[in-house]
Amino acid sequence: TDPVDQLSAQLEKLGSLDKYPNCHPEVNPQDIYRAHITSIIHEITGVDNAIVYNALQWTLSLDKGDMVLAIPALRVKGNPLVLGKQWLEKWPESPLVEKPVISGTFLPFFFKPGPLTQLTLPTARKLGREFGANKANGLKDPSDPSKGKKRILIEFSSPNIAKPFHAGHLRSTIIGGFLSNLYAVAGWDVVRINYLGDWGKQYGILAVGFERYGSEDALAKDPINHLFEIYVKLNKEISDEKQETEKLQKDGKTAEAQNIIENGTDEQARKYFKLMVDGDEKALALWKRFRELSIDRYKETYNRLNIQFDEYSGESQVSEEAMNGAAKSMLEKGIAEESDGALIVDFSKHVPGKVGKALEKPIVRRKDGTALYLTRDISELLNREEKYNFDHMIYVIASQQDLHVKQFFKIVELMGHNEIAAKVQHINFGLVLGMSTRRGTVKFLNDILRDVGDYMHEVMKKNQDKYQQVENPEAVADIMGISAVMCQDMAGKRINNYQFDMAVMTSFEGDTGPYLQYAHARLCSITRKVNLSEEEIASADLSLLTEAHATNLVRVLSQWPDVVQNTLRTLEPTTVLTYLFKMTHVLSSSYDHLRIVGSEPGLMKSRMALYDTARIVLNNGMRLLGLTPVERM
Ligand code: ARG
Repeated sequence: TDPVDQLSAQLEKLGSLDKYPNCHPEVNPQDIYRAHITSIIHEITGVDNAIVYNALQWTLSLDKGDMVLAIPALRVKGNPLVLGKQWLEKWPESPLVEKPVISGTFLPFFFKPGPLTQLTLPTARKLGREFGANKANGLKDPSDPSKGKKRILIEFSSPNIAKPFHAGHLRSTIIGGFLSNLYAVAGWDVVRINYLGDWGKQYGILAVGFERYGSEDALAKDPINHLFEIYVKLNKEISDEKQETEKLQKDGKTAEAQNIIENGTDEQARKYFKLMVDGDEKALALWKRFRELSIDRYKETYNRLNIQFDEYSGESQVSEEAMNGAAKSMLEKGIAEESDGALIVDFSKHVPGKVGKALEKPIVRRKDGTALYLTRDISELLNREEKYNFDHMIYVIASQQDLHVKQFFKIVELMGHNEIAAKVQHINFGLVLGMSTRRGTVKFLNDILRDVGDYMHEVMKKNQDKYQQVENPEAVADIMGISAVMCQDMAGKRINNYQFDMAVMTSFEGDTGPYLQYAHARLCSITRKVNLSEEEIASADLSLLTEAHATNLVRVLSQWPDVVQNTLRTLEPTTVLTYLFKMTHVLSSSYDHLRIVGSEPGLMKSRMALYDTARIVLNNGMRLLGLTPVERM
């Protein structure tokens, strides 16, 4: 029989497993331990199960145990040391856990290696790509799956058409892609939204520029760079004309100056954009083409990062009507007020103290009636509520826009939409320092990825022996380069700034993307060499895995589902990445001790089951981060 079933039955007798919410032994071996230890402590202390269950903590390193209880967390009156001693006197013999030895005010628990291996390896291998996932998280009602999944909208990336895809967009893309994967693995219904900067006078500039300098060929070949070049050129002309006008005015040539003001490039662009706002079909057709061609190109890049959006929304998609409605409602509710012909929100009048002052006095409608970034965001949020009826929404936007997001969330709340305000969340992040490309200072994502790929290729060439064996070195270098960029981005806490450093990120030494890829490829190469069938591995005698290196690796591998649960709390990619580095370090130090090629057949099978589990965890972790694990390099 299945060892998991067997142990579950045994534990059923010791105390029911499923009386704890969020206890899922079928997908998370550690939950069995959590439930088991809880029953023991509850028996001994009489403390409520739920309190005990939630007080069991992870440890920072294996030498501190597999789980730990801070005695004061149970809120039992008395000296923790004395209490701990008394409890330990009553501690029963357990099939799963060694009897703890008190350490300060903590009770550390060490899992008995045998059963942990019996539970972890088959569970992980049976679940495969799903190991670590727990779809119950996303259920509307965990006790009744027929009520369906919770829906989360994740807005991320959101570049501006015809402007550089800068480091902020890169980070938003990486973090947003990761969060989307995380919620999908947790069983939520995830809607990925890209809110493009695709509206405003700059599209008038672009259209006028295209009429002057555009080439259909260049547009088809490389729309992103072509449009950007035109945009830069036109902006230069506008500023030249402005200087010219000032000079003419200074020289008293008023009529000539007036002529430029009324007919110059800037005015043409303004008029063009006005046509777009008024719905002129011809004007809109050109803009729409720019937008669609750009989206096609973005999609190619997103595919390289394993990201697909469900919706390409954008500033253009917010209707003037909706924004007028929102402005009107703000005015009626007394949130907005007139100031110099414009509408502003003076937060100090609505939110007491320092907080209100810090929110400043943003404009929500200009004197000329045109709406703004802030007002668009408000309308778009109300629109998404109607369209998607979501349970939660995350905006992945740089911390440079913290104030903007605070203002817009607060206005929505002041408008009386408390339930909406309560389910939106800003996930912010710091700056990338020192990012530039070899081909100049403009940073489009594709150029960055190509540069890092080239660099990676050079690094790989330095080891000619290995390089000769790689089948498609360019493609591998490309994936490795992307992994390098992504892992450097996800290594620290989101809010920290970091230095973009090609030499560091592409190194095979240290905690880098290439290092993870190397670890994965090595596991795949072992699998190929050993070449055992699924059944052979499944029939392995796991009791042969007795060495400390083997049991420590099992202990780390068994933590993976908990790491995913913890990540749902931190929403930090580094929670996953740090774990993967920890795991691969334990793994790589075990190779010398747990040789597989050349060992006797029984041992070979059991060690293969162990390495296969490591491969599954590493593969799942890398894909959760958005990486493409390579099998050969
Ligand atoms: N396009 C904006 C920019 O590049 C980012 C949009 C962020 N999302 C939002 N809902 N405001 O700065």
